[in-house]
Amino acid sequence: GMGSKLIGSGSAVPKLQISNDDMAKIVETSDEWISVRTGIRNRRVLTGNENLNGLAVEAAKGALRMAEVEAENVDLVIFWSSTPDDLFGGASRIQGDLGCKSALAFDITAACSGFVVGLITATRFIKGGGYKNVLVIGADALSRFVDWTDRGTCILFGDAAGAVLVQACSEDEDGLLGFDLNSDGSGQRHLNAFVSDAEHEAISNTNGAPLFPPKRSTYSCIKMNGNEVFRFGWRCVPQTIQASLDDAGLSSSNIDWLLLHQANQRIIDAVSTRLEIPSEKVISNLANYGNTSAASIPLALDEAVRNGKVKAGDTIATAGFGAGLTWGSAIVKW
Ligand code: ACO
Repeated sequence: GMGSKLIGSGSAVPKLQISNDDMAKIVETSDEWISVRTGIRNRRVLTGNENLNGLAVEAAKGALRMAEVEAENVDLVIFWSSTPDDLFGGASRIQGDLGCKSALAFDITAACSGFVVGLITATRFIKGGGYKNVLVIGADALSRFVDWTDRGTCILFGDAAGAVLVQACSEDEDGLLGFDLNSDGSGQRHLNAFVSDAEHEAISNTNGAPLFPPKRSTYSCIKMNGNEVFRFGWRCVPQTIQASLDDAGLSSSNIDWLLLHQANQRIIDAVSTRLEIPSEKVISNLANYGNTSAASIPLALDEAVRNGKVKAGDTIATAGFGAGLTWGSAIVKW
């Protein structure tokens, strides 16, 4: 059998930074409320001629450089985003811009669980044979769909991209020690950005007789019941990490780093307390970037690798959770 290991990471954020004080000029809120309730202080927002593809490509280049893998040796590009530049998906454009000429590229969507689902998907392709270097990239610009009059959501989100390179290795070097993935579609009502169908004037036949009114659709802003999503994270994240630890035959004391989807510092603190993981082993950078959805885990991982926190051989417990609802976790070696 084949194993897979993480050998490179990269990330990118837009230039414009919006502080909590800036947010207080947009909606009725304060730096204190946002900091205390969420841990967030700043977020980045796409502006001008920036787009999501640009961020994703920059993040992917960082991962390729760190991994010392040439673009033409990538076999598969997996991209996840809820907010791609193109409704048909973002993966192929990224593949083209990077010059990953021999790679298949496709999109998956699992909201804030995208990193875990994408990583596990990459390892399944590697295990199946024929795929050696897999680039997995998550990027989101939730700012595109934020209701800037809703203080319950607009303060939370930021835009970013993050990537990792997963490479085939022998089974005894396998860096994926355990995982657990879940969905519960009955919770979709708590967090969504639904398509909104507008009925248009009927299309007529050549004689001018009306045939049918086509749909012309847009997407509504993000709607969230914060309390329900908070409770869901608080309940499900410790469960999924425990399931991954059991799958790996490990206990939380074997973990060097806890790296959760960066949604709310209070969720991160509650989970680390429940799992008895000390705060010095907890990776957190949402103070600077807010909740960057698909990008948050690889963005925080890349920062922790580049600043020397996460070292080769370290064991990381990572978990994503969010819209769907979806949640999942993995125990991986860096
Ligand atoms: N500034 C000031 N006051 C606010 C703000 C704000 N930005 N937002 C809400 N309030 C008010 C509310 O109106 C409410 O006032 P009231 O008591 O007079 O009615 C009060 O603060 C308390 O509101 P709650 O919603 O109960 O506040 P809570 O402590 O639950 O914090 C928050 C809200 C931060 C949204 C929290 O619920 C949360 O973080 N939930 C998780 C969200 C999350 O992680 N979502 C993303 C999942 S990932 C994905 O897939 C995108």
